[in-house]
Amino acid sequence: MKEIARSVVNILDLSVEEINHLIDIANDIDANPTKYQEACKHKKLATLFLEPSTRTRLSFEAAMLELGGSVLGFSSANSSSAAKGESVADTIQTVCNYADVIAMRHPKEGAPVVASKVTTVPFINAGDGGHFHPTQTLADLLTISRTKKRLDHLTIGLCGDLKFGRTVHSLVDAMLRYEGIKFILISPKELQLPDYMKEKIHMAGVEYVETVSLEEAMCELDVLYMTRVQKERFFNEEDYVRLKDTYVLTLEKLETAKQDMAILHPLPRVNEISVAVDEDERAKYFYQTFCGKQMRMALILMLLGMDKGVCE
Ligand code: CP
Repeated sequence: MKEIARSVVNILDLSVEEINHLIDIANDIDANPTKYQEACKHKKLATLFLEPSTRTRLSFEAAMLELGGSVLGFSSANSSSAAKGESVADTIQTVCNYADVIAMRHPKEGAPVVASKVTTVPFINAGDGGHFHPTQTLADLLTISRTKKRLDHLTIGLCGDLKFGRTVHSLVDAMLRYEGIKFILISPKELQLPDYMKEKIHMAGVEYVETVSLEEAMCELDVLYMTRVQKERFFNEEDYVRLKDTYVLTLEKLETAKQDMAILHPLPRVNEISVAVDEDERAKYFYQTFCGKQMRMALILMLLGMDKGVCE
């Protein structure tokens, strides 16, 4: 019997020291890309995506290709045996025979935990329902650390769908471990951060306020993290239509923001940031997609044990 391998299901599966190490590797990759171009030669990454994705799947695949490895996988449940009723556990035990590391996105919360109990190669949660998205958080942390030059003493505005937004839940978990963080939770009442997440913030002794007004919060923020109201998580179309355009960030609304505030968004964007904002130097959301690839490269290296000595 092979041993169960390490999994990253939640951002808390990585220690702060490991996250700092991943940021160091990503910065070294940025400075010395050729040093890494054969680092994962003969290694294979399987991307198992049972829910749509552009950034996460393609950045994982680009990451492995830039490390000199190969990729295999599927991009929808319909093109895998999940459509025939195969369980997550059976899929993972099969794919472990074909790949050296697995990244899986699944619409059901908890599917990555099932995978983590049977995987014999390193396993990465690439997003599960409205639950967690740890590698998006790695992208967010690298973006914040490069643009703000720190991960502590920040006032962070989380705006939009805080109820179903898995990127928000993972980012909150991550930031609770740094000093001097304050959250401003900006959402309609129906999409407020779940009570269990607010309880975590409270237990960590971190300050937070809830508001429905983006305009009132704006002048305080060091980071504004916009999110999409996710149609796919709603049970009823009427509620989605009523809430979907609650927040639209425009250049006018940015007039009261700090000059060095960083605007992040995990993307995809629908209507919540005006395209005109893209030209503002505070807009970091496309840079964030680039950071995502470098952090996924760093994570693959670490999980495959190929990070030793690369930037110490
Ligand atoms: N941020 C993110 O998860 O984007 P995708 O759904 O395109 O992967």
